[in-house]
Amino acid sequence: MDKVYGIMLIGCGHIGGDHLDDMYWRENIRVVAVVDTDEAQARLFARKYNAEHFGTDYHEFLDLPEIDIVIIATYVNTHLPILKDCIAAKKHILCEKPIATSKAEGKEFYHAVKAAEKDGLKVLIAYILRHNDTYNKMRELIWNGEIGELRVARMTQNHHALNWPRYKRLLHDCSPILDCGVHYMDILQWFAGSPVVEVMGQGATVDGDLEDGIVNYGLIIMRLKSGAMAYYEAGWGQTFSSANVKEFIGTKGRIRMTMNANRGTDTEMGDRIELFKLETGQTEIINVQSKYKPMYKQLCALIDMIEDRPTHAPDIEQAYSAFKVAVAADKAVRESAFIYIEDEQN
Ligand SMILES: NC(=O)c1ccc[n+]([C@@H]2O[C@H](COP(=O)([O-])OP(=O)(O)OC[C@H]3O[C@@H](n4cnc5c(N)ncnc54)[C@H](O)[C@@H]3O)[C@@H](O)[C@H]2O)c1
Repeated sequence: MDKVYGIMLIGCGHIGGDHLDDMYWRENIRVVAVVDTDEAQARLFARKYNAEHFGTDYHEFLDLPEIDIVIIATYVNTHLPILKDCIAAKKHILCEKPIATSKAEGKEFYHAVKAAEKDGLKVLIAYILRHNDTYNKMRELIWNGEIGELRVARMTQNHHALNWPRYKRLLHDCSPILDCGVHYMDILQWFAGSPVVEVMGQGATVDGDLEDGIVNYGLIIMRLKSGAMAYYEAGWGQTFSSANVKEFIGTKGRIRMTMNANRGTDTEMGDRIELFKLETGQTEIINVQSKYKPMYKQLCALIDMIEDRPTHAPDIEQAYSAFKVAVAADKAVRESAFIYIEDEQN
């Protein structure tokens, strides 16, 4: 029988719920503890997901031998201290992105993970789109040369922020260009097989009730080492629309992805990929049945790492690389600047 992995979730909020929804009922998972600084939230999660323990301080449970994996799903500015405590307790870790709020903290996070790996611990950063079947299909089409050489990527990911207090708390730590951007910087570098080397940006503060210095919209332009270019825009606000774009244009064709919920018709067919080919002038429609955030699949990638099986998951080098691009992009937005990523490496 497969080993049953004991899980502790720290952070019983929006994404913490997404993690447990997809895993608490699986045969090889046991929810040992759920923790949130808000006790009512931890108690609610314990009831909902049948956790054996709940509390407001994760230190209380770190030494429980039945916990194999800790999922860190708290605010970004807590990721590094919690990571360090979990490593000291010799736990494997699935940590929500972004790893940190600043370049210096991110570097410390990266070195802590490298040291933990030497001790046999496994750490996976939750770049969930790496585990999404539609993104994997687009990656496969690009890598198989279906659109020729990738030259342009157009990526928009705006959120109409209905739960505004939750978004305001996240904005307190990070702009959307960093918080959400890490996903798309990672996707871009993964699809292109080439790193981002230059970035420029502009930003805006849209909602009137934000603290000084908080930028809740950013637009960046990136150049990759391959010569390809990309734009990415991200805004979280009460007046944004979620009409998002994911389009990848090459020398021989184009891929455009529409998520299931946004396709208007035939939603039961899943996400829609339109593949236009210059050679035939035809557009092929590829439907993919894909869970948008396949949390259990992501956890299984960590289990594969723990059990020394090959995995499609991003390693810490790739995760850190996307983080550094997103940090540079955030700086470019704040300073209306043009930044060479290599100058930002140290
Ligand atoms: N992978 C994704 O697609 C995705 C989507 C949304 C959010 N996230 C990330 O997940 C993290 C959390 O975001 P969210 O939207 O779930 O926020 P949220 O506000 O809904 O939940 C965060 C929870 O963590 C708790 N918390 C904070 N500090 C804590 C601590 N020290 N100990 C215990 N609990 C603590 C808070 O009380 C809150 O309940 C962020 O890093 C965010 O960027 C990832």
